[in-house]
Amino acid sequence: MEVTEISAGRHPVVLGRDALRAFDRKLGQEDYSAAFILGDENTLRHCLPELLAQVPRLREARTLLVPPGERSKDLAVSTDIWRHLAEEAADRHALLVCLGGGVVTDLGGFVAGTYKRGIRCVHVPTSLMGMVDAAIGGKTGVDLAGLKNMVGVFHDPMAVYVHLPFLKSLGKRELLNGLAEMIKHGLVRDAQLWTDISGATLHDIDALTPLVERSATVKAEVVKADPREEGVRKVLNFGHTIGHGIEAHSWESPQRMLLHGEAVAIGMVCEAWLSWRMDLLTREDYDRITEQLLALYKPYQFDSADNHRLIELMRNDKKNSAGQFRFTLLTGIGQAKVDVHVTAAQVQEALEHYRLLVR
Ligand SMILES: NC(=O)c1ccc[n+]([C@@H]2O[C@H](COP(=O)([O-])OP(=O)(O)OC[C@H]3O[C@@H](n4cnc5c(N)ncnc54)[C@H](O)[C@@H]3O)[C@@H](O)[C@H]2O)c1
Ligand SMILES: [Zn+2]
Repeated sequence: MEVTEISAGRHPVVLGRDALRAFDRKLGQEDYSAAFILGDENTLRHCLPELLAQVPRLREARTLLVPPGERSKDLAVSTDIWRHLAEEAADRHALLVCLGGGVVTDLGGFVAGTYKRGIRCVHVPTSLMGMVDAAIGGKTGVDLAGLKNMVGVFHDPMAVYVHLPFLKSLGKRELLNGLAEMIKHGLVRDAQLWTDISGATLHDIDALTPLVERSATVKAEVVKADPREEGVRKVLNFGHTIGHGIEAHSWESPQRMLLHGEAVAIGMVCEAWLSWRMDLLTREDYDRITEQLLALYKPYQFDSADNHRLIELMRNDKKNSAGQFRFTLLTGIGQAKVDVHVTAAQVQEALEHYRLLVR
């Protein structure tokens, strides 16, 4: 079998041409009472036939469908799934297979982590974001009152099986969305990955394969070192403090809503600039990073009057305890430093810098 297995500490990430076959074999060794497959309309349409072809042991599994999109990360949707599982008499030995992007794995992981105090789940990510980030690491959750990931649990999947051909039906905007996290992984941990991404063609699955593997490895290694996000896992927050502010700001005018990765790409420009301003990063590296990101991601326009609102949105972010901004900044390409104190005035300067850059 042609598979690569990476350890994320409490669960493996299995990649390679035969990843799904490895999943089928694994099912043959597991004792479970019934299997359920959770997916959204897109993933059940585009990916389920291939999953069932390669994992015949799932052919008897019931499918559970949720609408696509972030809105499904919701307690009412979770309740529907819990109820459905109960109606199907799913017991503690049932298995939930989450086939989808980060929405399906976050939601499915949460439902599995709480149903009967926890049943096993397996993640089969179908979006690039899912393959390199969301499906790995056992963080699950749903949104509440418009706030992201407010309710959740840590619940590790039994394993994550990554099958790259699923990406064939994913649109370019979604590919770029996931690519932003790959760029981040390169910037905080793997300079060579970052360089190689710059020359990659997104639609070429063969070219993308080793990059996905290395990006998933960065995520897995960081998670392994810090499963409960108490220390080093914070390196993954690079670009996210300002990125989350931009993301939330874009949601206030629905006609220009950004995807998470698009907002993080902007956050990375701002935070690389802060890294330079705080003498952690050279100007040359800042310039290289900015050039790459501006070439890939469309500019986000706002007025200087919006800076205030953006900072307010960042303050609401649960990571910024007691109004203090603590950033993960770069000390080079491939290296980061966590818990750097940054003042609101410096954040404002970074926003203003970006604003003028793309005006
Ligand atoms: N738990 C974590 O550590 C973690 C990390 C990063 C992101 N996330 C979460 O992940 C979510 C975002 O994930 P996402 O970007 O994958 O979003 P998503 O799950 O909504 O998928 C994006 C879109 O692509 C579609 N899609 C997925 N795979 C497809 C395929 N192969 N072919 C065609 N269409 C396909 C989906 O139906 C959806 O419309 C957010 O809720 C975010 O909070 C979680
Ligand atoms: Zn992210």
